[in-house]
Amino acid sequence: MVACASSLSLTVLVAAMMASAATAQLSATFYDTSCPNALSTIRSAVTAAVNNESRMGASLLRLHFHDCFVDGCDASVLLADNGTLVGEQGAIPNNGSLRGFSVVDNIKRQVEAVCPRTVSCADILAVAARDSVVALGGPSWTVLLGRRDSTTASKTNAERDLPPPSFDLVNLTASFANKNLSTADLVALSGAHTIGQAQCQNFRDRIYNETPIDASFATSRQANCPRTAPTGDTNLAPLDTTTPNAFDNAYYSNLVSQKGLLHSDQVLFNGSSTDSMVSNFASNASAFSSAFATAMVNMGNIAPKTGTAGEIRLNCSRVN
Ligand code: HEM
Repeated sequence: MVACASSLSLTVLVAAMMASAATAQLSATFYDTSCPNALSTIRSAVTAAVNNESRMGASLLRLHFHDCFVDGCDASVLLADNGTLVGEQGAIPNNGSLRGFSVVDNIKRQVEAVCPRTVSCADILAVAARDSVVALGGPSWTVLLGRRDSTTASKTNAERDLPPPSFDLVNLTASFANKNLSTADLVALSGAHTIGQAQCQNFRDRIYNETPIDASFATSRQANCPRTAPTGDTNLAPLDTTTPNAFDNAYYSNLVSQKGLLHSDQVLFNGSSTDSMVSNFASNASAFSSAFATAMVNMGNIAPKTGTAGEIRLNCSRVN
């Protein structure tokens, strides 16, 4: 009898483990019955925000990256500091740099109005990233859904896991490998820098001290980014000097002509193993589009909270 009870509890345990493994899968159809209008609501709001300011597409795409690299895609990046929580927004890679929080809050309000307590902020970020890319002329892909939101955030882990622009290829590869992403994912995802802007402090060293760099490109960037720091550090430059607001493959042609803005961009084409991938993406837009779509799905799969883990936040910037 004892043996029987323990074998029954073992069966229950195994069944429970299998169920939790099954719910750990994200699914494209997750909201099809619970919130059929979720995706169209997010898309309209993103399209409106990007039409209002094209850079917002870049900012929303980056939010998803900075979410996923810190303890998985769980909307931890959206939690604002309060009396009890030291969030990720004040972490070095994010502070004064991440944007789009009020746009996400606004999307969440609209989604709550059609489906209360149903759609996670983490999923909103994943869908908004895709819709931003599409709004700026880039590829589309099917977003897997069913992530839940964290009840915590970690400034420490943000500073540990988000790669800085000073990284060389070896460190970048290691940082991505640490999130189960390949070198191919690294090269494709870096193509996100075909849109958006960077602050002078993040490329000053490159435009004054680094070789190789296209001389006229360096001179033109220096005009708006003084050599010494005191003022002007927040001056901005487009990450893609050729077509700053179009999600295309010009980022890679820029790298081939030594016009990468960040050090971490140019190291992808600097006489190493990733050169051939960069050249391929520079000359083959559809190869880039499909690699980017695949890599975004891979990034969106980083350590999701599913099933009963976490919560569905009512307001993306604070826990329930
Ligand atoms: C490979 C390692 C990466 C490094 C070192 C890096 C670093 C940076 C830095 C320093 C900036 C400028 C921030 C500022 O000056 O305020 C930036 C901007 C941006 N990053 Fe990355 N990034 C990386 C990968 C990615 C990935 C994987 C994505 C998305 C898939 C991404 C999307 C963006 C976008 C869209 C912007 C512009 C944001 C805006 O204009 O608001 N980055 N990145």
